[in-house]
Amino acid sequence: MDKIQDYVKLVESSLEEQNFDLQPVELYQPMAYILSLGGKRLRPALSLAACELFGGKAEHALMPALGIEVFHNFSLVHDDIMDEADLRRGQATVHKKWNRDIAILSGDAMLVKAYQYIAQVDAQILPSVLACFSQTALEICEGQQRDMNFESRPEVSEAEYLEMIREKTAVLLGAALKIGALCGGASEASADSLYHFGINAGLAFQIQDDLLDAFGDPKKVGKKAGGDILQDKKTLLRIYSRELDSKACDTLMETSFINEESKVEAWCELITLSGAKAKAEAKRDHFLKEALDSLEAAHGENQALKVELGQFATWLSQRDR
Ligand code: IPE
Ligand code: IPE
Ligand code: MG
Ligand code: MG
Ligand code: MG
Repeated sequence: MDKIQDYVKLVESSLEEQNFDLQPVELYQPMAYILSLGGKRLRPALSLAACELFGGKAEHALMPALGIEVFHNFSLVHDDIMDEADLRRGQATVHKKWNRDIAILSGDAMLVKAYQYIAQVDAQILPSVLACFSQTALEICEGQQRDMNFESRPEVSEAEYLEMIREKTAVLLGAALKIGALCGGASEASADSLYHFGINAGLAFQIQDDLLDAFGDPKKVGKKAGGDILQDKKTLLRIYSRELDSKACDTLMETSFINEESKVEAWCELITLSGAKAKAEAKRDHFLKEALDSLEAAHGENQALKVELGQFATWLSQRDR
């Protein structure tokens, strides 16, 4: 994945060049902070790859790629408020390091910044790029609201879950690819063919995110172990546990635990023993296969880059961080 690594480096160095040393510091420091904590930079890397897949130069997609990364970071700042998360990328979340009001407003400002970056594309593709990005941003809000609505519902179906993660996560991978492809000179139809790859890769990616939340090494994942369990998130692990052993699920829901660790431990045991973990892994692998099939069917001239994109999607669904 040499090319993908080059794209990640280009994104990193370009982010470092951005000036967030502005006033008032309470608004801009949190932006600089969250963007400096690293992260995989997968979405902007997808944009640059998609651009070059259609014969463009990565630099042509650089500004919208940065916009997509800034938008992603904005969504994390607000997501961490909603999910009451204290840790992000191994460091304090913005609302913990500063406070909730600062996290809300600096997040809002990041959303505006994201639009400023995204709009830096050739005039003829600007309407398509903005339409794609705005629709995506709205769908992410819809997914985030559903994710929260599900917390207080005892039962959520697999189909409802898949629609929720398509919205909250997969569409941004799709949009990163589509916008990158448009910057590289792809037609709307060709860019759309790549969008489908992003959706399937994004579904596999979010299922792996759910698995890592419960079973990953918190030192690598950079988030608190079992955060989803403690928030009563209806992840696929939880949905399959109910499907496979509803009695045990009811019992755990009625149990009052002495501390958070014992609650997480009990749920993880049920998720594993009921077969829910293995079933979720199989579903993840199903979407990875769908992603590789849709990549095969997608347009794009650069075959070597297509191979790298396939390897990248595979890594994303098997990652440990
Ligand atoms: C976290 O995204 C939020 C999800 C959609 C699961 P990433 O796992 O891409 O986060 P970073 O940017 O690498 O930290
Ligand atoms: C986050 O999903 C999706 C968005 C930020 C839009 P999660 O809540 O699962 O992401 P993490 O696990 O906190 O990174
Ligand atoms: Mg969330
Ligand atoms: Mg979260
Ligand atoms: Mg998560």
